[in-house]
Amino acid sequence: MNAISVQNIRKAFGGNMALKDVSFEIPKGEIFGFLGPSGSGKTTLLKILTAQLEATDGHAAVMEMPSRMMQKTAQKRRFGILTDNSGLYERFYIICRNLLLTKCCISSI
Ligand SMILES: Nc1ncnc2c1ncn2[C@@H]1O[C@H](COP(=O)(O)OP(=O)(O)O)[C@@H](O)[C@H]1O
Ligand SMILES: [Mg+2]
Repeated sequence: MNAISVQNIRKAFGGNMALKDVSFEIPKGEIFGFLGPSGSGKTTLLKILTAQLEATDGHAAVMEMPSRMMQKTAQKRRFGILTDNSGLYERFYIICRNLLLTKCCISSI
């Protein structure tokens, strides 16, 4: 069984074809590195796989569930992605600062 299946995926943003016929399969249990230069379409494909974007053409499935159908199912809640521009580090700093403040408050009681 394939954990992820991507067949001839295309994604256009206006006149910009971000993904051109991308195909690959990842068997269940396999660790897969997804590398490419900035702007090559990694995030776009991950967003298609997690039902945050619809492909212009092609077929993508996670655990045999077509990503087009995933939006309305509980399957979508079983996984997620953390992209490089998600703002984690700004929030992480705030969380750390709050923890430090909490620690200071406790130690000053
Ligand atoms: N929401 C969007 N609207 C228009 N163009 C986009 C959008 N998201 C990505 N792109 C374009 O799609 C291409 C691939 O981007 P992206 O998937 O972010 O690449 P990577 O994650 O590999 O850096 C780039 O040319 C980018 O400008
Ligand atoms: Mg990216």
